[in-house]
Amino acid sequence: MLRFDVITIFPDFFREAFDYGITRRALAAGLVETKAHDLRQWATDKHRTVDDRPFGGGDGMVLKPDPIFDAVKHIAGFRRRADYPPDLRVVLLSPQGQVFTQLLAADLATNASQIVLICGRYEGVDERVVEALATDEISIGDYVLSGGEPAAVVVVDAVVRLLPGALGSETSATYESFSDGMLDFPQYTRPPEIEGMRVPDVLLKGNHAEIARWRHQEALKKTERNRPDLVKGSQD
Ligand code: ADE
Repeated sequence: MLRFDVITIFPDFFREAFDYGITRRALAAGLVETKAHDLRQWATDKHRTVDDRPFGGGDGMVLKPDPIFDAVKHIAGFRRRADYPPDLRVVLLSPQGQVFTQLLAADLATNASQIVLICGRYEGVDERVVEALATDEISIGDYVLSGGEPAAVVVVDAVVRLLPGALGSETSATYESFSDGMLDFPQYTRPPEIEGMRVPDVLLKGNHAEIARWRHQEALKKTERNRPDLVKGSQD
């Protein structure tokens, strides 16, 4: 059982976010549990303030560290990363994080039994959260969201579908985009012709060696076109 706890100022955002598809099935099967926690419940003043002006000046507000430390203590039992068991991961979602990959998703799916996701705001989070609480600081890509909430949904989805038993067929997660560093080959289904476009002949003929060769070639072509950075030898 893998437990996800999301710390957010928008708990309603998650009300139905996990109630679809694979995550819904994984929840129903008892493989995972998810809970969204309103950060404001750990605010201490009567206005339930969770942010403040940045030291050193500048625009925008910064999420205060104290409600976040109290939230993680309440949810996971610790106030410092040094005290965590190895299967507890505390993830700060922020554009300053390391870029989320299939490899990191697999690391979380394999090694964690509790994942606490802290949703930052785009203006920032007090850096002491990174220093003492977060085991991982993750960005889902090189663009800026207004908050970490959509990123938390992305991370939960990518991790849950890798859990043993979460997918209908055990093999489908291993033969797909990124696990072999390449994009997927193009897929076709019926009808065999639409708007004058025919399904490639090779797929209709049933020669499995030919089909495998064609799929490999097409996957390579697509990867070269859409993601040249993934093609081996292009890392310069
Ligand atoms: N918060 C704002 N932008 C983000 C991003 N790209 N990834 C994760 N969290 C974010």
